[in-house]
Amino acid sequence: MNIEYYKELKNSPQSYWLASTHATDYPELSEDIRVDVAIVGGGMAGILCAYLLQQDNIDIAVIDAGKIMNGTTSHTTAKITSQHSLIYDKIKNKMGFELAKQYADANEHAILQIKDIIDKHQIDCDYTPQSAFAYTQDDKNVEKIENEVKAASELGIKASFIEEIPFPISIKAGVMFDNQAQFHPRKFLLPLVDVITEAGVKIYENSRIVELNENDGITLYTEQGKKITANKVVIATRYPFYNKQSMYYSRIYAERSYIIAISAKEKYPGGMYINIEEPTRSLRGCDSKEGQLILIGGENHKTGQGTDMSKHYCNLVDYAASLFTIEDIKYRWSSQDCMTVDSIPYVGYYNSDTSNILIATGFQKWGMTNSMASAQILRDLIVEGSSPCQDVYNPSRKNVLGASKTFIKENFDVAKHLISGKIASIPKNVKIQPGEGKVLEHDGERTGAYRDENGNLFLVNTTCTHLGCELNWNCAEKSWDCPCHGSRFSYTGSIIDGPSVDPLVADKNVNIFERVIKEDF
Ligand code: FES
Repeated sequence: MNIEYYKELKNSPQSYWLASTHATDYPELSEDIRVDVAIVGGGMAGILCAYLLQQDNIDIAVIDAGKIMNGTTSHTTAKITSQHSLIYDKIKNKMGFELAKQYADANEHAILQIKDIIDKHQIDCDYTPQSAFAYTQDDKNVEKIENEVKAASELGIKASFIEEIPFPISIKAGVMFDNQAQFHPRKFLLPLVDVITEAGVKIYENSRIVELNENDGITLYTEQGKKITANKVVIATRYPFYNKQSMYYSRIYAERSYIIAISAKEKYPGGMYINIEEPTRSLRGCDSKEGQLILIGGENHKTGQGTDMSKHYCNLVDYAASLFTIEDIKYRWSSQDCMTVDSIPYVGYYNSDTSNILIATGFQKWGMTNSMASAQILRDLIVEGSSPCQDVYNPSRKNVLGASKTFIKENFDVAKHLISGKIASIPKNVKIQPGEGKVLEHDGERTGAYRDENGNLFLVNTTCTHLGCELNWNCAEKSWDCPCHGSRFSYTGSIIDGPSVDPLVADKNVNIFERVIKEDF
């Protein structure tokens, strides 16, 4: 098949992890409840946290805005690895050996802990031991690889220097970690959800939390107005919806990346690979009922920024074709990750003044081991009051790892988009074809318009309901995306990704939320 055929992206985005497992169906919260611990967010971190806490006979509710495990957990590459690109030499130099050792131990332990859980509950989740590789194609980065091998080895990780990988890619150097693994994240978590619900954990879906109050204990309110009273709350919502006095919105930014799952004539040689330069390219194999799939990921960019999002998939197709003879592109999907300004997740007490609100966010692109590590830290803090690896993840830590520069850059970027979105000129006479979305002027206001395949036009106010930045159209996912903190909305205005907790609303002139009209503008 001609490569251009695949770049037409005929199939809709769909994650293989979702397509190959059953959907969950837990009830919406329909009454006020009281629990010991409320976990907001039913992704991998939230479910694993509930799994560990229920072993201590704690009364727990997991509350999700949509379906549990439907966010990043179902859109990952699912590499269980302590190799987070190049991180250990950086942490060791900037934070010291002790904190670097904590990060290495937390993630190495997470690999073993996931395997223990799989063995204990005999979970069939396509778990396969693999080695992980990070490589450079640039001579000037060889020293960084050498330093990473040295630092990781000193920290107790089985790391070695390599000079080639089994692909037609000319590399200058690479670092290989042994004793890593890959799996199917939903096949791993769905049985665990059965385990925790049988143990009494309550799960509520489609119950978005829109308000958190700190009084005696914590009260949470769902968008349907139901109240949850809890002694402690864990916020595990990828991007925190609560920001009081902690400036998370200035310390976290959202990135999107893309994955295609291809079948190819060649057999995948094994291993999990990632380069250290831009554009990022990630590779892993995956046995499925449809035969062997090869997952090719990359093309990171800040959410809501850029023009033609479909080009990211096309770039991955070109890259796949340079390595394999593509027989089919079975699936394609995108993911959203939270990045911190110093590259280390925030896990622990929400801020230094509270021990009742805890948080786990900012896993970068390494959510499998960081979710497990987070769950352990949160469980330890709640049950024991301390955890061996809490310091390196401490959300109240000072900015390190060159974070000040990133902090300034990211906040300047938010300010720039906040202003530029307001002053950009908006076209008036616009034709919108079926399947197209555009920003246009309607009754003097900036308005987002999308026409579906039946010719119906959907109009939304494009001002983000979080902090007011102007949304941009994402043609690859048919969504309105915010360039400031990464909220995303469907073309009808409903929330896909937070931190926003309110759907897009009409303003005084665009009083036609979800209105369907037939004319062009
Ligand atoms: Fe913060 Fe849109 S997500 S302004």
